Amino acid sequence: MALIRPMTPEDLDAVVQIEQQSQYAPWGRGLFADGFKPRYFNWVCCDNEHIAGFAVVQHLFDEATLLNFAVAVAYRRKGLGQQMLQHVLDHLPEAVHTVLLEVRASNQSARSLYDRVGFNEYATRKGYYPCSDGLWEDAVLMQYARI
Ligand SMILES: CC(C)(COP(=O)(O)OP(=O)(O)OC[C@H]1O[C@@H](n2cnc3c(N)ncnc32)[C@H](O)[C@@H]1OP(=O)(O)O)[C@@H](O)C(=O)NCCC(=O)NCCS
Repeated sequence: MALIRPMTPEDLDAVVQIEQQSQYAPWGRGLFADGFKPRYFNWVCCDNEHIAGFAVVQHLFDEATLLNFAVAVAYRRKGLGQQMLQHVLDHLPEAVHTVLLEVRASNQSARSLYDRVGFNEYATRKGYYPCSDGLWEDAVLMQYARI
């Protein structure tokens, strides 16, 4: 089991590096720094002293949104993403009944992970994400009901 702990400002170099290898349109450092404000829960997943992944969640009343989530390329397919996602779900305030997220339609690895932990697809946003070929890709909207 990897250690999962709250993100700190000292983690940002590693987090930004993972983000850059993970996303077509990566968040800048400032967006991650915004996540240290109230109503955010930011987690990192550690392998000894190495940051292997992160999750950024925003919480508003009875709803939370998974805003960003990635595992470093070298650590993928070892169960860390699933472990981190389960940790996120287990550590939200009790008031949160629904967890939402958006994912690129082509991102089969993330979609199957979300499906595996209990998220359901409920809508599609047409042409939402920019792609490298100048075209646009749909976003799939998923939700998780906390009992
Ligand atoms: C999506 C992501 C976080 C998954 O992290 P991970 O640590 O590799 O995932 P896990 O090892 O916990 O995988 C758990 C399950 O998810 C599914 N899954 C994960 N990666 C997969 C892949 N490449 N292909 C198919 N299924 C995959 C499988 O069901 C897997 O279980 P299995 O290995 O027993 O088959 C990682 O691929 C990533 O960081 N991608 C880039 C960033 C990203 O897409 N973030 C989500 C934005 S919405």
